[in-house]
Amino acid sequence: MTTAAPPIPARSSVPHFRTLRDLSAGQLRDLLALGERLAAGRPPEPDPRPLAGRSVALIFEKNSTRTRVSFEVGVHQLGGFPIFLSESDTQMGRGEPLRDTARVLSGYVDGIMIRTYEQETVEELARFSRVPIINGLTDLYHPCQLLADLLTMQQEFGAGRLGELRVAWFGDGNNMANSWLNAAAMLGFELRLAVPEGFDPDPETLERARGETSVLLTRDPKEAARGAHVFNTDVWASMGQEEEAEDRSAHFRPFQVDEELLALGAEDAIFLHCLPAHRGEEVTEGVLEGDRSRVFQEAENRLHGQKALLVHLLG
Ligand code: CP
Ligand code: NVA
Repeated sequence: MTTAAPPIPARSSVPHFRTLRDLSAGQLRDLLALGERLAAGRPPEPDPRPLAGRSVALIFEKNSTRTRVSFEVGVHQLGGFPIFLSESDTQMGRGEPLRDTARVLSGYVDGIMIRTYEQETVEELARFSRVPIINGLTDLYHPCQLLADLLTMQQEFGAGRLGELRVAWFGDGNNMANSWLNAAAMLGFELRLAVPEGFDPDPETLERARGETSVLLTRDPKEAARGAHVFNTDVWASMGQEEEAEDRSAHFRPFQVDEELLALGAEDAIFLHCLPAHRGEEVTEGVLEGDRSRVFQEAENRLHGQKALLVHLLG
């Protein structure tokens, strides 16, 4: 007979970042303001090294370039010590339960970031951890990426205009699309998603956002593009979907962001992509490298947005 593992009593005051919704709209705005200050080269105040003497575990069950490096560098710049853990060389890869890992790591580190498959894995860690849990991407959400994307929008259009913008999403209703739904609902901007049938965003996330802001789900990319200030797309096959890539691309081809589609947007429209991008698939080379593209500023903002998050959670 198995018995339920006794959790270490939860410290209800521990904040987590499982989805953007773990922040209030006000906290999100404050965090973006701090991110903008950090991006401008101003250190956190009053303490420029608020993570001094602290350690953060970074667990990766999927590949990463941006998330890994921006977290490692970000923790270091704030005075802390980042510890990279891959599934393959820890006991997690040999089946040690997450609930045990969460309780063990809570005794050593001050925060845990995890990139994994199921959102439930992040929730389970949070249930058993005594330190903040940060979602570094699941199949359902990628909230750290949204911090960078929103920061880029704010740098471009100003904080005061965020709630007035129209954001367009093209392609898969995936973890990024779901996170955009949360962001739109929290900041009040309009979101238009052009998604092929069968690839809609998470129904619960969609319904909740629809109750809070203007959301249009369409099969027509032009309808989403018209007047949009921000154009966004992502790969057609996310991590874990590699075997379906060929089959999926047939559905997504009409949703490519090209120069013609971008021309339907607002005069000052920008193009964002979380990267890595597949040129010639979800976006043309011309758009990705063109004068409306902000993708490398966006990638740099991963560092600034996450440092603001670390200050909020651990500082
Ligand atoms: N955008 C993003 O999360 O990139 P990585 O997969 O390289 O971390
Ligand atoms: N939707 C993509 C995002 C990568 C940063 C994926 O999950 O693979």
